[in-house]
Amino acid sequence: MPYNIIATAEADHGHQARRAFCQTLASVPHLPKVILPTGSSPAPFYQSLRDHPSIPSFSYLQLDEYLGLDVRDKRLFSKWLDRDVLNPLNIQNRMIFNSAANPDDEVRRILAWYKQHGAADMAVIGIGLNGHIGFNEPGSSFDSRARVVTLTPETIAANQSYWNGGKVPTRAITLGIADLKEVEHTILLVRGAAKAEILYRALHGPVTPEVPASYLQQQRNLIIVADRPALAMMP
Ligand code: F6R
Repeated sequence: MPYNIIATAEADHGHQARRAFCQTLASVPHLPKVILPTGSSPAPFYQSLRDHPSIPSFSYLQLDEYLGLDVRDKRLFSKWLDRDVLNPLNIQNRMIFNSAANPDDEVRRILAWYKQHGAADMAVIGIGLNGHIGFNEPGSSFDSRARVVTLTPETIAANQSYWNGGKVPTRAITLGIADLKEVEHTILLVRGAAKAEILYRALHGPVTPEVPASYLQQQRNLIIVADRPALAMMP
């Protein structure tokens, strides 16, 4: 599938991501259902949204969440999104995962929700150094749906900086690659030289569950907003 690359300067990345996001929101004829990620990749994008909060409204759908935390724990991804985007933009409709619920019951609830409401209209995603998307680690089937996953040591190490020396949970709930494939519009945010190799492999290497992000090669309506260091290996 052809995709659209928006190459940005570091300083302009958030602004360009917001433009692509707002244009896509405006193209959806109903209240868009939007998946948003946490992590460092979307930070400038969220900053730009906070700087210009008057944008079309949307419903937020959670992408992934640690398991086993109290629902008030500030380290929950849902709280992160609340602080960075949803509260500043006054987004009221939120489909979030309950970290403290029985994991199997929670997965059943999420699957039932998607059966009733259908796929998201848009997914904004980041890519992990190992090619993961959400918490779909290497080896995740492209047919996978929302489920409980065990995090790889690499992902635990990558997330350690958000835990102030505390122990990063080892289990999480994530939407699956099949959930992401059903989305009409996808915006991939990529920043920094460290992501150059995995971005290249995801878009130009074999399409394989060993690189979960390689599903993007077959994805319709894909926009990649990437700074120049992240694009260094792209043809
Ligand atoms: C977070 C998520 C992860 C990140 C990925 C990149 O909700 O789904 O897949 O998008 O790990 O993380 P950063 O942006 O911190 O490099």
